[in-house]
Amino acid sequence: MRLFRRLALTAVVLAGLASELAAAEADPRTAIALPADLRPAFLAHMRHHMDALDDIIARLAGADFKGAAGVARTELVPGSGAGFGRYLPLEFREMGLGMHRAAAEFATVAEAVPAQPAAADWQKSIAALQTLSAHCRGCHGAFRVE
Ligand code: HEC
Repeated sequence: MRLFRRLALTAVVLAGLASELAAAEADPRTAIALPADLRPAFLAHMRHHMDALDDIIARLAGADFKGAAGVARTELVPGSGAGFGRYLPLEFREMGLGMHRAAAEFATVAEAVPAQPAAADWQKSIAALQTLSAHCRGCHGAFRVE
């Protein structure tokens, strides 16, 4: 009887571990505990990033390289997330800085495009834009808020 109870207990413990592992597998991102009153502002800030990215692509679609650079410089500048910083782990903040640097680098590339862009100018600009969006993607794969 005692053995049976021990086996049953072991089964319960193993089932618990298995479901924890399954949960970790389902969402392996690091959870950031943001105070509930800051969460909406954090997500609104992120939606602003999405707007900026879309505005950049829209300017590029119109061959407006200077306009695209301007959006990157004014809307994706570092420090615009002030207020959340102290709740964010160092690795998160470094990824954020990487994104801002990529935005500045895109702006530099796009600003240098001449009035009559060649195929290589388009290619370089799109490559720099992709480096920027890779930073969005990288952080989204690594972190979530709760
Ligand atoms: C340093 C990390 C980081 C970077 C860089 C980053 N994000 Fe986010 N973003 C997050 C986290 C964390 C969330 C919340 C995800 C969750 O909890 O599931 C988020 C959420 C979002 C959301 C959802 C907002 C909502 O209302 O639910 C959008 C849209 C978004 N990000 C766009 C972007 C875009 C576009 C970029 C790049 C220009 C970007 N983000 C760069 C970390 C980042």
